Amino acid sequence: MPGRKKRIGILTGGGDCPGLNAAIRAVTKTAILNYDMEVFGIKDGYIGLIEDKYLSLSYQDVSGILTEGGTFIGASNKANPFKYTTANNRLKDVSGEVLRNAKRMGLDGLVCIGGDGTLSIAYKLYKKGLNLVGIPKTIDNDLKATDITIGFDSSVVTVTEAIDKLHTTAQSHHRVMVIEVMGRYAGWLALYSGVAGGGDIIIIPEIPYDIKKVCKRVIERDKTGKRFSIVVISEGARPKGGKIVIKRIVKDPSEPVRLGGIGNKIADDIENLTGLETRVTVLGHLQRGGAPSPFDRVLATRFGTFACDLVVKRRFGKMVALKGRDIKAVDLKDAVKAIRKVDPKDPVIKSALAVGTSFGI
Ligand code: F6P
Repeated sequence: MPGRKKRIGILTGGGDCPGLNAAIRAVTKTAILNYDMEVFGIKDGYIGLIEDKYLSLSYQDVSGILTEGGTFIGASNKANPFKYTTANNRLKDVSGEVLRNAKRMGLDGLVCIGGDGTLSIAYKLYKKGLNLVGIPKTIDNDLKATDITIGFDSSVVTVTEAIDKLHTTAQSHHRVMVIEVMGRYAGWLALYSGVAGGGDIIIIPEIPYDIKKVCKRVIERDKTGKRFSIVVISEGARPKGGKIVIKRIVKDPSEPVRLGGIGNKIADDIENLTGLETRVTVLGHLQRGGAPSPFDRVLATRFGTFACDLVVKRRFGKMVALKGRDIKAVDLKDAVKAIRKVDPKDPVIKSALAVGTSFGI
């Protein structure tokens, strides 16, 4: 349309995390202040694109949201346009509808803020002809092609604070404290918060644990006068030769597996095998809440600004990524190939081992 302002859309998909509002603000302000564009917030992730629900975003709308957790335009980890559950419970490909709605809105480009699920869908929509770029977010930090995702650092702060608090009560009562941490099939969150909180034993999915070694460490500590232990365990961890613990399988085409329960399992095993009193804390969705850390606010601002620039330059099919200290554009295709797991030779593990942390092996 000649004469009309260019239009950019933003959506936040998948599980929420701190820093999403900061990213929405960054895209919106960059678009308005630098490019005189119109901005639309798509409601509830892909649901908004499927059901044509969006709102116009002004500079005022995003003013003051930098420090707020969550996403004020809503998110959903259920709406996959390629496998959409209709009112009569059928799975239907409605991706064509998404493309038509984006066209009707007059979008010149879309910014999809999401984790591997949302960005895999984004890549498929891009291949179908939707002009979009991605911004990586997830507390799991498990996306390929970026060093860090939005939300990870804030979540590390939350979990570390929880470990600090558990430390004092563990010490007072001479107990073993197990803390179950999110992260799905990657151990980044447990590893970083475990190291930051001085966890005595850190158990991650990438290193299946030996319960005898875990108990040995707990008893050694007890004998040498440290009459408490902190065990930080990822929800996706499993014992050597054993299985991941699944809380529930739900009717959800995008994410049917709900992890949870490994914390209780290892706590029971520790108590039975050592005779030491053991308690479990499952942090759950607290890990996704609260204000973003300063690091996440800066990262989200840099990602959002860069993503808007990519849309203006029409460099679609890309994801913004942190590489060292620099923000780069990488191919979405490479970002969603597979999830990024912790390498057991990761330098953080090496340092943790050097200070006597056990990984249960
Ligand atoms: O991917 C983020 C995450 O918080 C995971 O760490 C966790 O396994 C999952 O989402 C929980 O999902 P839901 O909010 O659907 O329970």
